Amino acid sequence: MQAFNQRIEQTLQTRINQGLDRQLRCVEGGNQLMICRDNQQWVNFASNNYLGLANDDKVVLAWQQGLRLFGAGSGASPLVTGHSTAHQMLEDKLCDWLGFERAILFNSGFSANQALLFSLLEKGDVVFQDKLNHASLIEAAMLSPATLKRFAHNDVEDLSRKLANVDASSLVVTEGVFSMDGDVAPLKDIAQIQGNALFAVDDAHGIGVLGEKGGGSCQAAGVKPNFLVVTFGKALGISGAAIMCDATAGDYLTQMARHFVYSTAMPPAQAYALTQAINQVQHDDWRRTKLDELSDYYEQSMCHLPGFRSTPTAIKPFIIGDSARALDCAKFLSQHGIWLSAIRAPTVARHQARLRITLTALHEQSHIDQLAEHVEQWLEVSA
Ligand SMILES: Cc1ncc(COP(=O)(O)O)c(C=O)c1O
Repeated sequence: MQAFNQRIEQTLQTRINQGLDRQLRCVEGGNQLMICRDNQQWVNFASNNYLGLANDDKVVLAWQQGLRLFGAGSGASPLVTGHSTAHQMLEDKLCDWLGFERAILFNSGFSANQALLFSLLEKGDVVFQDKLNHASLIEAAMLSPATLKRFAHNDVEDLSRKLANVDASSLVVTEGVFSMDGDVAPLKDIAQIQGNALFAVDDAHGIGVLGEKGGGSCQAAGVKPNFLVVTFGKALGISGAAIMCDATAGDYLTQMARHFVYSTAMPPAQAYALTQAINQVQHDDWRRTKLDELSDYYEQSMCHLPGFRSTPTAIKPFIIGDSARALDCAKFLSQHGIWLSAIRAPTVARHQARLRITLTALHEQSHIDQLAEHVEQWLEVSA
């Protein structure tokens, strides 16, 4: 007991000393353009609500209708009584949209990623992951009985060399769009060298945003991986996730994916609202067009500033380097009506602290003007 207490206190103190401790902030409007707290307002440049669906009237209405039709909760895990017609409708919609035979639903992207790796990997297997993959993927591989080999970020040659040296059953895993860098994986090139390895893509930040009708990074690249993880908490505006795969793999995951088998199914009303959100993702092309225009405008407005990184997505990292300076910049912007997060180690490499700026279809160019003006001001006053 005492050892645990000491460990907890020491770890907390170390985080504080390094300037890396995190605080929960209670806000209203995290899913909207304007964030409110204590009668103050900020323009929200921090959410993953890329298409502006998280507070959309039709999506909210669908969830309300779902509540009336199906009640509040699912009542059980999917294999018991938790799988309703609303869940089946969502699965069918996902399969039709993304061109897979099966969709296995999860309550979060984190659990979908963990379930995928834990169910597939055995001792003697090798899992190859991009160095910058999400914590849920890296952690699952580290805790699995397989060997984890990380390849240099988006470096197909490095992956190819590493694959060539391995004889074992292999799985290659990458994100489609990297969550902290906003760049896209070379999916086509990876698919070409995968050989006998299975290929899995976590498209948390590409689904809905990239590709025709929002089909995501894989569709945009013309690639069909063996497993595609799509999450519902970002462009789709709600939460939850699915693993897309073929029928046999779907049957396998239905037996073996413990986060699916032993967890209460998502509320049916949520599945119902998600089906509506996908309809809008498919049909509201204007949301993607607006996001692309805002992205171009951001690049023109910010490209002269040191720290700017060009990306083909709505995720715009602004690299500051030092953690304390990144925090100082976020604080300065907050004092000038802009809400965003300073991302520091361990989420990104030490000395790579950054602002994670996200654009959404809810923004206007004037908001980007406001952001650019104040980032420039901070660079001047902090030089
Ligand atoms: C690349 C990536 N994968 C998975 C997840 C986890 O998804 P969820 O928020 O649905 O748990 C995230 C979330 O931040 C992510 O960025």
